[in-house]
Amino acid sequence: MNLHYFVSVLFLLQLHLSFGQGRTKVRFNENWHFTFHDQLEYRLDDKDAQDWELVELPHDWSIKADFGAAYPAGNAGGALPGGIGWYSREFQLPTSDKGKCIQLHFGGIYRYAELWINGVYLGKIPNGYLSFTVDLTPHLKYGNQNNRIAVRVDNSKQPNSRWYTGSGIYRDVYLIKTSPVYLNESATFISTPEVRGTLGALKVQSKLASIPAAKGSSYAKKYQLTVWDPHGNLLLKKTGTAQDGNIDETVSVDKLMHWSPEAPNLYRVQLALLNRNNTVDDHIEKKIGFRTFRFDAKMGFYLNGKPLKILGVCMHHDLGALGAAFNKSAAKRQLLMMKEMGANAIRTAHNPPAEELLDLCDEMGILVYNEAFDMWKKRKNKFDYHIDFPTAHLSDLEAFVRRDRNHTSVILWSIGNEIREQFDSTGIALTQEMARLVRFLDPTRPVTAALTENNYAKNFIAQAQALDVLGFNYKHEDYDKLPVEFKDKPLLASETVSALQTRAVYDKLQDTIQFWPASSKDKYVVHGNPDFTVSAYDNVAAYWGASHEKAWLAVKNRPFLAGTFVWTGFDYLGEPVPYPYPARSSYYGIVDLAGIPKDVYYMYQSEWTDKDVLHLLPHWNWKEGDTVDVWAYYNRADDVELFLNGKSLGTSMKTADQLHAAWKVPFQKGELKAIKRRNGHIVQEATVRTATDAHRVEIVLEHEKYATGESRDLYFVTATLVDKVGQHVLHNDQEIEFIVKGNGKVLGTDNGFQADLRGLHHPKRKTFKGKALGIIQKTDSAPCTVIIRSALGEQTITI
Ligand code: GAL
Repeated sequence: MNLHYFVSVLFLLQLHLSFGQGRTKVRFNENWHFTFHDQLEYRLDDKDAQDWELVELPHDWSIKADFGAAYPAGNAGGALPGGIGWYSREFQLPTSDKGKCIQLHFGGIYRYAELWINGVYLGKIPNGYLSFTVDLTPHLKYGNQNNRIAVRVDNSKQPNSRWYTGSGIYRDVYLIKTSPVYLNESATFISTPEVRGTLGALKVQSKLASIPAAKGSSYAKKYQLTVWDPHGNLLLKKTGTAQDGNIDETVSVDKLMHWSPEAPNLYRVQLALLNRNNTVDDHIEKKIGFRTFRFDAKMGFYLNGKPLKILGVCMHHDLGALGAAFNKSAAKRQLLMMKEMGANAIRTAHNPPAEELLDLCDEMGILVYNEAFDMWKKRKNKFDYHIDFPTAHLSDLEAFVRRDRNHTSVILWSIGNEIREQFDSTGIALTQEMARLVRFLDPTRPVTAALTENNYAKNFIAQAQALDVLGFNYKHEDYDKLPVEFKDKPLLASETVSALQTRAVYDKLQDTIQFWPASSKDKYVVHGNPDFTVSAYDNVAAYWGASHEKAWLAVKNRPFLAGTFVWTGFDYLGEPVPYPYPARSSYYGIVDLAGIPKDVYYMYQSEWTDKDVLHLLPHWNWKEGDTVDVWAYYNRADDVELFLNGKSLGTSMKTADQLHAAWKVPFQKGELKAIKRRNGHIVQEATVRTATDAHRVEIVLEHEKYATGESRDLYFVTATLVDKVGQHVLHNDQEIEFIVKGNGKVLGTDNGFQADLRGLHHPKRKTFKGKALGIIQKTDSAPCTVIIRSALGEQTITI
């Protein structure tokens, strides 16, 4: 027996003894050290690090600052700092882990992460939005010896984005332990190549990988595929043998429960590697839905054989006061609010999202337009990804598709947004190269891009003839030209609207829509509001945009457009068109940055759902002699009648080009009431009264609704000022302090006002138009006390 053989036998024997539980993947978010200083020594040791801090991931250091004019990201980047920071964490591994493959999976680090394990350099990651996995196995120590992972994050080169990016390890980190021969996650692809009625095929492809010591070992090549139906019942179990390290298995499933926005049925699919005892060495689990979809040049989009208009919103990745730091319940809150509004889709503008966001979309039944890039070789900002694109774009695109192709919710791969190469011939080859790669990695989904050039002769991305669906941003007046210019191509309004609003601000209505700024000649609006607000009547937009109503009607009335993606579902940090600093977050959202809907939310709800909607605006605190524009968003009614202090002001209805009822009302103190009638019967009423000064703070706590079953699920506390009779007060803002006693903390506060300069991490927040939000997280499961304090008194809630 030669030595090599002997060692191998020993090794296999050891594997035999120590494995058999499958893979473990656990969060690796706690006990990280962070410093905002930069010393190369930190790769080895941070004992002397200045301002050393214990942090829990996900972590965004930018959001911990107050807003400031001098930060090089500018107000387009959120008026918050970038810089360089270091993270490190020490950890031990039991000796029983020896021989396993040990990896760390990072959900995303902004930006330029460099990593070291026990002083050994692991590499540099140029893309700030992509997940990546590092193999630690060859460098680890076991037993009571410490291992140390160090991460340098460099977001110092600014500006590098058109919106707020956040800085740091802002998504989850996982420690993954597998057997030495294991399933390669990124090579695992589960698809549903056939769905016919209630019969479907499930195709599972994967590849084996191994640590060097186990290379070539014939060990663990038997696999087992197990599928459970959406109710959790075991549906099938099948074993097979990998051929040359490849697994390719197709099974059929009958009595299918399809996946759709109304019924997001998911099957649990487990692929396991078995060892000689038929116990599990490694496994991967995914939740997969069966659905068919197709885009049609004439008739738009079909899901499960039925036409479906895509009712989408664009979303940036920040979560308001949490910054970029991902939290699943905060993401669920955003998605649920969009779903309750009637949206059935989101566009991940303009970068790969957190993986957990896609899990939510799978579970909640939200279609996803998944986007890779905002620029290619040609830059939009001096230090943006155009620098890395030439060397990194193909590997990044590959990593992106491999990561997300097992998400049923994803229906489109977008290779770019408003890419400048669409205007010259270099766009052709790049489009072809990227579309080919995406299709190779995932032949089941169409490839698209969000374009702006409506003239085929000038649009080189379209001329590449490599995209399956063409997305067009804005220019709704040109929609009818598109089928002529881009013959036989399925079409989508990939970005629409860009209207501007500050929640609950109502300026006197002009007869025509106001464009702020008026044209490309101005960077900012010239005669805007001195207090950096924009009226919340749907009557102001960026000059390339349109009102919500106009933009929606343009898509609604054209069956050849597969759907719309409104810019944007939520306000986001950065890009505060139309104002300079102190404005620091966007005005585009249907919902403000704090998660409080603007009025137009109810326009969408009235159009996109069958729920009864009646929403009356504005408030009723005006000066005698004012004539006030009163609007009502409504649906499912003959008409709406308005009453002022009991006296009818007549009925009003939507029209073919106006999606609200409207009245001009001479102001008189008292009560304004709208009554909605259906078939002659009153079915809904909405009232707004003249408010007196703020008398107390009304508290609404939301948790269960947005809970995801994780201990870090958040508590959202909304404080609303009301007068003696409970009328919401908008004119008498108060400072509110959120205090947590015991095992919890205030993660952030917000009031949704785009030019409030107090950092969003502060526990104190002045209400804006009578509302403020506190975001609370518990640190353990014992009850904890939250005090909401203001000049109006103090209230306590237990969470
Ligand atoms: C679009 C762009 C978006 C955002 C928007 C603002 O042209 O794709 O990222 O900048 O304008 O209106």
